Amino acid sequence: MSENIKIAVVGSGYVGLVAAVCFAEMGHDVICVDNDERKVAALQGGDSLIHEDSLPELLEKYRNTKVRFMTDLAEATRECEAIFIAVGTPQSEAGDADLSYVEAVACEIARSITSYKVIVEKSTVPVYTNEWVTRSMERNGVARQLFDVVSNPEFLREGTAVSDFLHPDRIVVGADSERAAAVLRRIYLPLTSGDYYERSGSIAGSCNVADPPPLLLTSTKSAEIIKHASNAFLALKISFINAVSNLCEATDANVEQVARGMGLDSRIGPKFLRPGIGYGGSCFPKDVAAFRSVAEQLGIDFNLLTEVEKINGQQKKRFLNKVRSALWTLRGKRIGVLGLAFKGETDDIRESPAIDVVEMLLAEGCSIAAYDPAAIARTQEVLPAASNLRYVTDAYAAAEDADALLILTDWAEFSNLDIDRLNQALRYPIVIDGRNLYDPDTMVKHGFTYLSIGRPAAYPVRDLTAPSAS
Ligand code: UDX
Ligand code: UDX
Repeated sequence: MSENIKIAVVGSGYVGLVAAVCFAEMGHDVICVDNDERKVAALQGGDSLIHEDSLPELLEKYRNTKVRFMTDLAEATRECEAIFIAVGTPQSEAGDADLSYVEAVACEIARSITSYKVIVEKSTVPVYTNEWVTRSMERNGVARQLFDVVSNPEFLREGTAVSDFLHPDRIVVGADSERAAAVLRRIYLPLTSGDYYERSGSIAGSCNVADPPPLLLTSTKSAEIIKHASNAFLALKISFINAVSNLCEATDANVEQVARGMGLDSRIGPKFLRPGIGYGGSCFPKDVAAFRSVAEQLGIDFNLLTEVEKINGQQKKRFLNKVRSALWTLRGKRIGVLGLAFKGETDDIRESPAIDVVEMLLAEGCSIAAYDPAAIARTQEVLPAASNLRYVTDAYAAAEDADALLILTDWAEFSNLDIDRLNQALRYPIVIDGRNLYDPDTMVKHGFTYLSIGRPAAYPVRDLTAPSAS
């Protein structure tokens, strides 16, 4: 039988906020702590702050009742049995993860602990962080029997984070004590028992009562490595298909056919084989660098990861060259840009390859009209509008009078545009698609020159039988 557990989540960012409302949805009582007072006030007032499917609904359902927001970590520590740390772990200058926020949280917990707590690493952290948190607690005078540190990595994709949380492929719990493992098992019981999926109004997804997610119990170090290794492997898959796409371009093969042929092999699988302009986001770039740095510090040669990063960086430059190949010279060209977020269905622009491409085009002297369904406000914070950069309110306005239209983010709405209307809006009907959202034959039939990734360039066929103007 599932029970209510009092849980604190520290950090109300993309990961912490989603975890907080999802724990409430599972039936627990949650305190979400953030040291940013403005954020806390906004969340208390019902502003979810980030663009994430189902989040506003869950926030509305639970805010100030089953999820309380506060800045006081000491109070949350006293009240709760488990404390999830989901603060940022940014990349340091050297490439490794900066764990100072995690350490600051551990020290603050240490000051307020009076009874047994399970401290859970939810942020992506390198192997050995668990030991450091433990050491930090002990240095601050906390008796060893008053706490355990557990690693419970998240595998949430932005945009589908709520459903990923409630319908995970697996729940990984790295615990070195049975007492701590038991607390995590109780927390996730609504999912692992299938009980949650039978409730009326539960969020739909891939799991159901007959097929609940497995909970994999490992050592703390294994769990830490599982997280980094999983993200690095997914990034590797993307760089691999991007390298293959370059090979396809050189041979006039079609990478979509190649990826399908590879993905049908169940050992390879079809996912994360979409070629594009490179991976971005708050996780892959940072985690590949951090994993490489961990290996380096341990004296292990993991140059494979350096190659993954190299291919990823080159992919953006290759895309720029593709634009150049279509437009000849770039200075003074008017470019319409669709997409600024690092991927579709999110407003997040952290490490967005789309923004990198926009910056490269501006540096080449192009002027840009950019549209994104959700990421314009955030982009303006780093790239304010200027004489050579305008933000527009829809895809057709971006295309208006442009020398070419670029697709940089795989928003679903970009796959369903009225292409005839686009054609009329453009000065020249040229589309350069960094996400392979359209079928080249269809684009050609509608009169476009269409360049994409890893597929032969498609040019409109001139009707040679038509009488010439002269
Ligand atoms: C972060 C990490 O970057 C990622 O590696 C990890 O897997 C999960 O946590 P994200 O949720 O996207 O991801 O971070 P961010 O949106 O920056 O949110 C972190 C929150 O923690 C912010 O709201 C910040 O105000 C808060 N914070 C930070 C604290 O409450 N206390 C601190 O000491 C530092
Ligand atoms: C990722 C992981 O998927 C998730 O498990 C982890 O916890 C956090 O990091 P996220 O960063 O939200 O999630 O996005 P994801 O969907 O994985 O995409 C990452 C980047 O790779 C995006 O820029 C995306 O456009 C790109 N990508 C993804 C490709 O270029 N090709 C693909 O086939 C898949």
